[in-house]
Amino acid sequence: MTKTRTPIEIAAALLSDGEVVAIPTETVYGLAGNMYNENAVAKIYELKKRPKQNPLIVHVADINSAIPLIEDFPTKLLALAEKFMPGPLTLLLNKSGLVPNSVTAGSNRVAIRVPAHPLTAELLKIINIPLVAPSANPYTRISPTKVKHVEAYFGSALKFILDGGDCTIGLESTIVGMENNQPIIYRQGVISKQEIETIIGPVGSYTTEKSEMPTPGLAPKHYAPLTATTLIERDKIEKVFETGMAVLVFQEAISSIPTEVQYILSENGSLAEAAQNLYGLLHELDNKGFKNIICEMLPDIGPGSAINDRLKRASHKPAIKN
Ligand code: TXA
Ligand code: MG
Repeated sequence: MTKTRTPIEIAAALLSDGEVVAIPTETVYGLAGNMYNENAVAKIYELKKRPKQNPLIVHVADINSAIPLIEDFPTKLLALAEKFMPGPLTLLLNKSGLVPNSVTAGSNRVAIRVPAHPLTAELLKIINIPLVAPSANPYTRISPTKVKHVEAYFGSALKFILDGGDCTIGLESTIVGMENNQPIIYRQGVISKQEIETIIGPVGSYTTEKSEMPTPGLAPKHYAPLTATTLIERDKIEKVFETGMAVLVFQEAISSIPTEVQYILSENGSLAEAAQNLYGLLHELDNKGFKNIICEMLPDIGPGSAINDRLKRASHKPAIKN
């Protein structure tokens, strides 16, 4: 009698065969492949239509599994790893010879993440190979936080999606690395600058004004709905609103605008809940044919900063006049 395989076993078998499968993480769904398999790596770039110079995050089961992949572990980054891994943190570390250049796009640094989602944690443990897994969306589009988002993007081009339910965090991981011996945040996430600083002291923030672009994901146009999107302060929304537009508010609808075109990120005013709901609502709004999505700027603290950062990048279309 043949034993029915569990979804994790199916995913593990496909990955060992060099196939690409979607995996759940607590942040967003990823498009995963065996780091050592050149075909799998190439297929991920092809599926995402991602430029070859944009490197892939490597996912491992635990900090120990990362050690052979890196040259050294700067003390401050190790302190962050011990506090936040597994979790929504990615560290940029000097890579060892084990990490193929195709994964890091020729860079001498590798991005390492230990996801906390129980299914993917289990998958990484049993498969025991590092998995490259960028967010499971085509280049520049919104990251998926639900299985249906992944299906809508890739359909039958993808052999298997490991269904882990909706992502509980909903925003991509915070990315931290070192520059001139100083820790620096390259991408904001729900682990905030304040939280990081309580552990390792002052950290810098990467700004797009810098000439070099160590993290191509920081390109100004990123994480964008197809619908024109605008991020502004709440008190300006009423002035720019026109019929045909949708409004994405933090906690409460704006009384002068029809409630049926207003979408609330968190009725409790929780920034964590707002982060969890953000991409789901943007996916939904993007399918409704609005001429513009006007987004309320959130309080610039904790996950609020990361949400504002994503919405700023989403506001790539000509801003409406105000
Ligand atoms: O939460 C997350 O980080 C999700 C889940 C699936 O783990 N992954 C994710 O991957 O957001 P991705 O590829 O969409 O974003 C990772 C960012 C990209 O902007 C990429 O350019 C940057 O990390 N990155 C990856 N490896 C790098 C490296 N070696 N040096 C510099 N930047 C790197
Ligand atoms: Mg991405």
